[in-house]
Amino acid sequence: MALGVTALCCSVWCASAAAAADDADIEALLARMTLEEKAGQLNLYAPASGALSNPALHIRSLAEQEADIRAGRVTGLFNGAGQAAKRRAQQLAVRESRLGIPLLFAADVIHGFRTVFPVPLAEAASWDTDLAERTARAAALEAAADGFHWTFAPMVDIARDARWGRGVEGAGEDVLLARRLAQARVRGFQSGEGGLASTAKHFAAYGAAEGGLDYNSADLSPRTLREVYLPPFKAAVEAGAAAVMTSFNDVAGIPSNANRELLTGVLRDEWRFDGVVVSDYTADEELIAHGFAADGREAARLSFLAGVDMSMQSGLYLLHLPALVQGGEVPAARLDEAVRRVLRLKKRLGLFEQPFRGLEAPEPAARPEHRTLAREAARKSVVLLRNQGGLLPLPKAGLRIALIGPFADEADGGSAADLFGPWTLFPGRAAPVSLAQGLRDALSDPSTLKVVKGSGVNEPLPGGIAAAVSAARRADVVLLALGESAQMSGEARSRAGITLPAAQQALAEAVAATGKPVVVLLRNGRALALEGAVRDAQALLVTWFLGLETGHAVADVLFGDVSPSGRLPVSFPQAAGQVPYHYAHRRTGRPLPPQDPGSDFKTRYIETPNEALYPFGHGLTYGRFDYEALQLSHPRLPWGGTLQVKARITNRGAREAEETVQLYVHDRVASVTRPVRELKDFRKLRLAPGASAEVEFTLRSADLAFIGRDLQPVVEPGLFDVWVAPSATQGLRASFELAAP
Ligand code: NOJ
Repeated sequence: MALGVTALCCSVWCASAAAAADDADIEALLARMTLEEKAGQLNLYAPASGALSNPALHIRSLAEQEADIRAGRVTGLFNGAGQAAKRRAQQLAVRESRLGIPLLFAADVIHGFRTVFPVPLAEAASWDTDLAERTARAAALEAAADGFHWTFAPMVDIARDARWGRGVEGAGEDVLLARRLAQARVRGFQSGEGGLASTAKHFAAYGAAEGGLDYNSADLSPRTLREVYLPPFKAAVEAGAAAVMTSFNDVAGIPSNANRELLTGVLRDEWRFDGVVVSDYTADEELIAHGFAADGREAARLSFLAGVDMSMQSGLYLLHLPALVQGGEVPAARLDEAVRRVLRLKKRLGLFEQPFRGLEAPEPAARPEHRTLAREAARKSVVLLRNQGGLLPLPKAGLRIALIGPFADEADGGSAADLFGPWTLFPGRAAPVSLAQGLRDALSDPSTLKVVKGSGVNEPLPGGIAAAVSAARRADVVLLALGESAQMSGEARSRAGITLPAAQQALAEAVAATGKPVVVLLRNGRALALEGAVRDAQALLVTWFLGLETGHAVADVLFGDVSPSGRLPVSFPQAAGQVPYHYAHRRTGRPLPPQDPGSDFKTRYIETPNEALYPFGHGLTYGRFDYEALQLSHPRLPWGGTLQVKARITNRGAREAEETVQLYVHDRVASVTRPVRELKDFRKLRLAPGASAEVEFTLRSADLAFIGRDLQPVVEPGLFDVWVAPSATQGLRASFELAAP
């Protein structure tokens, strides 16, 4: 069926008044729907893959799925559905269901579609919002060309506990960086012709799971919730995110999927979000396992009344909502409200006019220009943690290189998944570039590269260490490709420790004992606690999961075609026992020297310094940047006014490089104790050798707001410290006073 107006205005999702005013067609459609058809619009599931059904897992057979579509009992399908299956399903919906309402096709398009980009945490290390927007846009174009309409991304959960496996899907530990990337990704997915509707997930505090254990309870103060975990969602909503997905966890005893305070109080009433709230996968039914609902009917009622519009996979809404409405336990108006939101989403995606969008043409391949973007994104995601004696960059000729480790060459019995990382559901046919391949492509004489596996990811290889040591002895420099497999990060992939597996550590120790210079190429989906020969290697590059162009991008950095420019979006602790760890912690009453010299009774561990091994914001380049001449435009920031903070940055190194200049603030005395530092802004700067630039930031008094005693944002006059810095623990410091009103 075709509704009157497509109303796509500026983007696939536009909540403008004009669009809303045009919803008479939706009202007319609503008026024609039965209760079951309405509940059907709120019922989303993964497509059938064949003749088998599994009621316990809510898996429908193809025959059941087709019957559901004809009867208007399903609103859309997610993941898994190839083009032909989507086309067939859409034909049934549009031509054979009573009302002809088109299906929505959703997918987890997390870091690319056919073209696989770096995992979101890696891309966050670029601190490049324009890049994040462009990769989201590219992913959206490829997915839309394959007939998808809606992505379950971006994940905007703050992650401060490196044990939590899903940190890999987000933007790291910092609120400002997460807010900016959330907005960039929403814009990238949604803006312009041919994008996808986006979903900010997982609402809320999913990353605050106790012990870093996925799905676990989050018990946190309302202040931390509002100050740390909610702002990225608010930012995504302000950028126009079409949908919000609930989280699996409970927040202080109330499962998110039934958390009316959050879903209705905060999201709808405070933030005025009018898009679709979708449950996570069977999260409504899981209220029973939580011990919050006695049965499916109660679970459906509690979820729906709390504010979840659409149910993913459980089928509980379809099963129970009609009777709940008939029995007066759920107001009919609440049902209409949820259905209206879903129909609006479909309308704004243009589905009523073009239900077969992306399904007419044959299955599209990855776009060639996206491969170039994948290499750019991967290069920019690499973080150089350490470069003793300027070992890097390496020359492309005249060196014998041994590339050793379980991630040296996926073509040699490894897995392409380990280049991609988690959540790569739709990779194209092009083979990803392994480290070995990338290095060979870059070297003047590829025969100078010797590749040895040396160890499995978790288990030693028979004779592996001996082979590695002998290769290292014959080499001038060793590249050690160590870290985590894709299987070690992502959903349900929490780790009790965040060190390297023992087999790899043993390999690193043996290789280091040869005395050859070692460059560690770390593959990881989280901050790791680095130990021994890995921590002490001459050079250390964090390469995360970089996607399709991994090998080329790492070679670009290793050989100095580009200077590394990534900055850590998560602090690397000194020891695994420090987690959860993040830079923006509060001071205690007994801080360590130099903040407070004196007695022994200070905040500290017996065995380990408190500081990070590498703090948030850290990352070296092949330049050498000096920070000088910090100046404030005035010693006082007028109430409601602005203050300019300036510093001169000079590249005294011998190579052009990009510096990420960071602005931090600390509120010295407030009615609620404040973090030792908070990131307020950052700027990227490319400087030739010897060149200088003045960086100027503008601080507004509103930037100094925090969540006060009454849980409302407040700005308090008084003294503040400000840093212009290359990381969260360095930089030039000044102070200013925020004047009273
Ligand atoms: C569960 C995950 O938590 C969520 O992020 C994802 O979108 C859904 N499954 C659908 O795959």
